[in-house]
Amino acid sequence: MRILMSGYGTVGRGFAEVLEKRSKFLEERFGKENLPRIVCVMDSKTVARDPAGLDMKALEERKLRTGKVGDESYSDSVAVIDSVGFDLLVEVSPTDIKDGGAGLRNIRRALERGKDVITVNKGPLALCFGELIDLAVENECKLKFEGSVGGAMPIINLCHNNLAGENIRSIKGIFNGTCNYILSKMDNGQPFEQALKEAQQRGYAETDPTNDIEGFDAAAKVTILANSVFHRNVTIRDVRITGISSITPDAIALAASRNMVIRLIGEVSETKLEVSPRLVPKGHPLAIGGTINTAMIDADLAGPITVYGRGAGRIETASAILGDLLSVMDDRIGKKHSK
Ligand code: HSE
Repeated sequence: MRILMSGYGTVGRGFAEVLEKRSKFLEERFGKENLPRIVCVMDSKTVARDPAGLDMKALEERKLRTGKVGDESYSDSVAVIDSVGFDLLVEVSPTDIKDGGAGLRNIRRALERGKDVITVNKGPLALCFGELIDLAVENECKLKFEGSVGGAMPIINLCHNNLAGENIRSIKGIFNGTCNYILSKMDNGQPFEQALKEAQQRGYAETDPTNDIEGFDAAAKVTILANSVFHRNVTIRDVRITGISSITPDAIALAASRNMVIRLIGEVSETKLEVSPRLVPKGHPLAIGGTINTAMIDADLAGPITVYGRGAGRIETASAILGDLLSVMDDRIGKKHSK
């Protein structure tokens, strides 16, 4: 399985590390000849390639030393994709929720070439979900995106696989760790700006934290759920969005006096698509603190199901990519063993 990885930031590095950590497991499951190997990596300006598989330790050292993954510069990532022999694109470049950016062009091109794609890039999915799924179907390839919503928290494949026979009535949840961190710090009297700075230092906030605070990041995630779980045909522009920038310490104190907290809640159903700050009773599953994400699924047969997990992080998000990789490889190659 030859992998082309577009993007070499936090998640890309994490994925390379996870592949290394699980190399024995992957060999046992698929055989040495089918071990996934990364044959090409693009960062924002340069590309490294080796059809035999890149030495990812050397690549990481080089990136740390020079700021580049390779000597070869490029200006058009699609031209790079066209020039590489690969089976699977792992698209982990920085997200662009305005027009999808390079991530959208990369995913489109890979699918047009009949290549499977795994991505955690929210922008392309929140803007062009229908088009990308149609492309995947047309070209008989897979498009997997578990890590795009809730990072390590299982939600998309859970709904698609374990809950496939359910009529899922709604999903409500906390889909932005940065906002949750800020709101829960404000519960303890910390000022907004200081809490935001801490969330940025912990590597949770988006490059432009406006996307977190104004609710756009959570909106991208509910859009992905609306399309993939509820089979709707919506974009991020259809979400009713209110962020947390206008939440004052007074509002938090008033909520606390009624034994409530304020949380940024995303809600999606067949008719609803919303992200807004809401009052949540203390002790309720949605009243969690810190950067954890959570989702409450209301399914007609199973009843309510709640999942929690780390919504971001290098290794955590890479674990979702690994899950998608196993699913693609199980289908394409088949397990050698029953593990
Ligand atoms: N900025 C996002 C968050 C990262 O705070 O949850 C994961 O999408």
